[in-house]
Amino acid sequence: MAEKTRWVSEHGPDHSQWYIDRFRRLAAEGADLAGEARLIDAMVAPRSRILDAGCGPGRVGAELARRGHTVVGVDADAALIAAARADHPGPSWLMADLAELDLATRGQPDPFDAAVLAGNVLPFVAPGTEGQVLARVAAHLRADGIAVAGFGTDRGYELADFDADIDAAGLVLEHRFATWDLRPWADGAGFAVSVLRAPG
Ligand SMILES: C[S@@+](CC[C@H](N)C(=O)[O-])C[C@H]1O[C@@H](n2cnc3c(N)ncnc32)[C@H](O)[C@@H]1O
Repeated sequence: MAEKTRWVSEHGPDHSQWYIDRFRRLAAEGADLAGEARLIDAMVAPRSRILDAGCGPGRVGAELARRGHTVVGVDADAALIAAARADHPGPSWLMADLAELDLATRGQPDPFDAAVLAGNVLPFVAPGTEGQVLARVAAHLRADGIAVAGFGTDRGYELADFDADIDAAGLVLEHRFATWDLRPWADGAGFAVSVLRAPG
């Protein structure tokens, strides 16, 4: 791991376990935890190959796998990857730093049809590595593949910086919404869901 992620530097040591417990409790209560996966599923072909980038305990990737896709989940946090493996067998859950991602060296040489960065992944990467993360995700997409990233706009990663990083990563911003259920984007909205396309 090159640098400490904000997920680690901004939270106490118990935060990952709190996060695991929270999503286990919400799942047990029958909460709808599949909003992001529904959107991705609607945008890709059946049986697509999907990268869950910053997968945490596997909520999004697991739902995509249930919908028939082949999922590889990557996260830098060992406790979260352990929880994903325990709770959601099926997908490949790998511990790795997205800023240095090279899945060919981890037995995953095939490109992805889509990548999803859900739940504020980009504002939680190590400061200054957001562009590298986007570039490494882009490098794992097939030509014409998509990446969808959702994050709060008040979490320290400015949208203008994101847009510059998208460009530098060779991705094209195709759509921006204010929610994962596609409410229209308006300047100043507190959340942005951005659909990015790799060159065809
Ligand atoms: C708020 S969690 C979201 C988890 C999951 N996507 C979800 O929606 O439940 C943010 C995640 O980003 C991960 N993360 C942050 N920087 C990372 C990096 N450089 N490489 C891999 N994972 C990273 C954290 O470990 C954490 O699991």
